[in-house]
Amino acid sequence: MTLGYVMKERASKQRMTEEAKIVVLAYSGGLDTSCILVWLRQQGFQVVAYLANLGQDEDFEDAKLKATKLGAKEVVVEDQQLELVQDFVWPAVSADLIYEDRYQLGTALARPCIVRGIVRLAVRVGAGYIAHGATGKGNDQIRFELGCHALCPGIKIVAPWKDPAFYERFPGRQELFEYAHTHDIPVPVTPKAPWSIDANMVHISYESGILENPSTHPPEGIFQLTTDPEEAPDTPQYLTLTFKAGIPTSVSVKDQDTPVTDALEIFRICNQIGAQHGVGRIDIVENRFIGIKSRGIYETPGLTLLRAAHLDLEALCLDREVRKIKAYLSNLMAEQVYNGLWYSPEFEYTRSCIENCQLTVTGSVDLKVYKGNVYVLGREAPVSLYNQELVSMDVQGDYDPIDARGFIRINAVRLREHQRIKTIGSTSYRIKDQKTNGQKTSS
Ligand code: ARG
Repeated sequence: MTLGYVMKERASKQRMTEEAKIVVLAYSGGLDTSCILVWLRQQGFQVVAYLANLGQDEDFEDAKLKATKLGAKEVVVEDQQLELVQDFVWPAVSADLIYEDRYQLGTALARPCIVRGIVRLAVRVGAGYIAHGATGKGNDQIRFELGCHALCPGIKIVAPWKDPAFYERFPGRQELFEYAHTHDIPVPVTPKAPWSIDANMVHISYESGILENPSTHPPEGIFQLTTDPEEAPDTPQYLTLTFKAGIPTSVSVKDQDTPVTDALEIFRICNQIGAQHGVGRIDIVENRFIGIKSRGIYETPGLTLLRAAHLDLEALCLDREVRKIKAYLSNLMAEQVYNGLWYSPEFEYTRSCIENCQLTVTGSVDLKVYKGNVYVLGREAPVSLYNQELVSMDVQGDYDPIDARGFIRINAVRLREHQRIKTIGSTSYRIKDQKTNGQKTSS
């Protein structure tokens, strides 16, 4: 979808619906966005609800019914699973994305995907507004809003949790419950977990509530996706992941004959194996873009396997210096994704630089998954920089060991110089010390 196209389409549709005030709401089916839906209607909006199916465990039909009953003009549930994997997760795998060394960006990757879906819908229905239920302290508001402004120029954002008219009306959950009762909004039967959950097929995240104290250990039973590594099977699982130009193209699971090549299936299999064997749990404190530190608990089984395999294959296929630059770019790209900058020029530039070095990252990696760990057992690549003859202790290859003498001697020049000035430094210090009659000024 080009921006020119988006603008033209929207302009004409909006003219038709100028008085109608149509808003597309990122709807989750939960209490908050249900109340927001009704509140928006009370503000004079016609609400079109958008719910993305990103593989989270959710009754989509039920959510659709609920939003319709609450007076949504239209409810759209869109299956974005393949889009998420192919357009967001695969680029993350090939770039080895990781934020602050530990977070694999499960939520941050899903947001620009949802934004695409919402914008497509906003264009179709001629909406002038997009609404979301993210709070004013987090990253998600930034990801939603920057994405919408980039893909749908001129769109107006309605963010009730940043609107005093809304948040003063609902200072706590009690007020939401009361509002729900008076407006026939179904209230969840199971008590809400004392933390916030965000789930999609890449990960489940838990934060806020009782987890805000970073010294509180993850409560018993918090994890919904992965087996506790201590209770994981005693028999390991073996699998082989194959990549072409940095992108996963097949997975072969030991004792299952046919390799799987469908993108969504590859990801599902990695998730299922990782989850069963307790892979991918982390508990971290991270830096939000807005400048606040927050504590998050994540489980990311499949992506953890894919990342381990891809990184390993790169060791065979990437030149040493290219690898260093790539690691730097990968860090930048992870930060851009985390900060909601998927649709930015710097992201596009970083991504294309990384893609360039991935052209040679083709081959397979054998993994063993066992009790929360991923072990690389071996790797191979049809075209690899690894030269067994060159490295072998048993074969001389195209290499003269005498050259190593000079190589080391030249490298030692700098090290000798370093030691020499240290000696001079301490001599001059001793001289200065004697001049002050032995009165030491420092030790
Ligand atoms: N801290 C993570 C991030 O910013 C996860 C956010 C999850 N959002 C949530 N509403 N629980 O990407």
